Amino acid sequence: MGENGIHERSTVSVIGLGQMGTRLAQAFLAAGHGTTVWNRTTAKADALVAQGAVRAATLEAAIAASPLVVVCLPDYATVRDLLGPVAERLRGRVVVNLTSGTPQEATRTAEWAAGHGADYLDGAAMSGTRLVGRSEALFVFSGSREAFGIHRTVLESLGNSVHLGTDPALAPVYDTALFGLAWGALAGFYHAVALVGAAGVDPAAFAAVATGHMPFVTSLMTDHARQIQDGRFPDDDGTVEVHAAAMEHLVGTSRAHGIGTDVPELFGNLLGRAMATGHGANGMAGVIDTIRKGERHV
Ligand SMILES: NC(=O)c1ccc[n+]([C@@H]2O[C@H](COP(=O)([O-])OP(=O)(O)OC[C@H]3O[C@@H](n4cnc5c(N)ncnc54)[C@H](OP(=O)(O)O)[C@@H]3O)[C@@H](O)[C@H]2O)c1
Repeated sequence: MGENGIHERSTVSVIGLGQMGTRLAQAFLAAGHGTTVWNRTTAKADALVAQGAVRAATLEAAIAASPLVVVCLPDYATVRDLLGPVAERLRGRVVVNLTSGTPQEATRTAEWAAGHGADYLDGAAMSGTRLVGRSEALFVFSGSREAFGIHRTVLESLGNSVHLGTDPALAPVYDTALFGLAWGALAGFYHAVALVGAAGVDPAAFAAVATGHMPFVTSLMTDHARQIQDGRFPDDDGTVEVHAAAMEHLVGTSRAHGIGTDVPELFGNLLGRAMATGHGANGMAGVIDTIRKGERHV
């Protein structure tokens, strides 16, 4: 019997069965967790019901069905508009909000949930929809450590589920930071594909070589995180000056092949600013100082 005085029928309820919510529900079902689903447009639950999910007739019934309520809607405003009128039903529940938003929205929603007696975890799905349910899919969560501990097994059926800390704002901070990281890497990749493409190289052939190069890049992340922590930037992986010169070559080669130079110029400008403020002889991770200070630096 749940705290709402209703027999809980499921382990987890999923509210919002769009592209992401549907995949979340499928992953819970695939892992053998009793799953109740609710969606504004009821037909979107049909396929999940065929796969073993329980259809909740109302939003209130979905909340009552499980101790763990996973919400996946377009934005926080929709979450609050939808859950606001049924907030008292959330008492004693753990709400996991996998809706994308800002750190401020996560903090406000956690406070709102606490005000209604619910435990709260903010979360972010980092790996798109295709990998959900597989160990390669990264899910980050922050907020109640106790709630994460209790529901860990269920949340781990989504993929590589990581609890970042008790501050609910951490999940959206990581969400945006990791998004920027992926885009930095992919922007470099798209530029590289254009460059080798201008030399007649097939994108797939290049991708095969590029993915083999990634372990080196990720090893730099580990080493440079340590350097940044220590505030010391040895030049083992090349100085800012050396990298600025190499970036000039990339700009020049791109121009010679008639392709855009936006991406290498972005990195070149960053290295140039770092040199202008005395970091030329530092190791490449010294650019962190330039990034941290932003425009105030020059
Ligand atoms: N899709 C991805 O690859 C991906 C990846 C990472 C994160 N996310 C995040 O996951 C969240 C959901 O994304 P999605 O791709 O699943 O979106 P989606 O496919 O557009 O689905 C949106 C869901 O929200 C429901 N909804 C919208 N307005 C509503 C309202 N006023 N009241 C009740 N329900 C409402 C929709 O119900 P109806 O079916 O009735 O319209 C639908 O179930 C977003 O915050 C997104 O940023 C998505």
